[in-house]
Amino acid sequence: MLIRPRRNRKSESIRRLSQETILTTDDLIYPLFLVEGKKIKEEISSLPDNYRLSLDEMLIEIQEATNYGIHSFIIFPKIPENLKDKVASYSYSAKNYYLHAATEIKSKFPSINIISDVAMDPYNIDGHDGIVENGEILNDASIEVLVQMSVAQAKAGFDILGPSDMMDGRVGAMRSALDQAGYYNTSIMSYTAKYASAFYGPFRDALASAPVDNEGIPKHKKSYQMNPANKKEALIEGALDVQEGADFLMVKPALNYLDIIRLMKENFNLPIAAYHVSGECAMLIAACQNGWLEYEKAMPETLLSLKRAGTDAIITYFAKDYAKMING
Ligand code: PBG
Repeated sequence: MLIRPRRNRKSESIRRLSQETILTTDDLIYPLFLVEGKKIKEEISSLPDNYRLSLDEMLIEIQEATNYGIHSFIIFPKIPENLKDKVASYSYSAKNYYLHAATEIKSKFPSINIISDVAMDPYNIDGHDGIVENGEILNDASIEVLVQMSVAQAKAGFDILGPSDMMDGRVGAMRSALDQAGYYNTSIMSYTAKYASAFYGPFRDALASAPVDNEGIPKHKKSYQMNPANKKEALIEGALDVQEGADFLMVKPALNYLDIIRLMKENFNLPIAAYHVSGECAMLIAACQNGWLEYEKAMPETLLSLKRAGTDAIITYFAKDYAKMING
């Protein structure tokens, strides 16, 4: 035999030498859930070891994660029910506690990246990412709100804005509004190919943001999030986001969509992000809690698969655990 591939597997040192993919903490983005108040750290029951944190607790969590080498964070707010309305007006209000928290986080940690969530669902009584009228999710009217939200977030100090809403044309509208307001250095990480997935459950529990169970209001997001059966449509979304000025293209969810990640990587020159979503992480946690899988082995293998598929930036609830494992 001339060719024996096993020679490159004969020792740990040769396996390391021939390793093709290396995942570092530079590749990871750690998601955090913010609540108003002080000294609050509530575990999310469907996503064990992840918490709703008040700002004081979040600063501690960020400090700990940065000590292990994480330097990017994506932050989602839980909005009190009494501040929700049909047009998400609290999302750009001067009183918004999420915006104040961003300013505080950046003043304590000037060198980290903080990524926002641009979408109406945390602020919307209907639990949708856009304005609902007669059972329809309005596109252009929603964009006007998203644009105001974006400028307010840029002003608060977010480094990267993350439109997760899937309205048509929102990246371009955000880009021009940001530029007009002087925020030409604020980046946009677009949720480019975001699918109407069954794997967002724990996230919606965390924020109490699920579409409401009301007559006439769709309980699903299929009229704006993509059909899980579609692949070419991701190329349409990608081309639009490139044209509209996005800085990162995101695929979401991640594990069930590795083919889409690869497709995006091969077709576009922007960095590709993947959102390893709450349900995907919860499945692995549950199997490990049952003793069916070993967390220390299954978790890094899972994250590595996302990098190998072509992801440049991985949003994952395992970010801190992975960082602790390799740098702790
Ligand atoms: C909503 C939003 C969702 C997630 C991020 N932003 C849920 C949804 O679209 O209903 C899900 C993330 C996760 O499951 O971890 N704008």
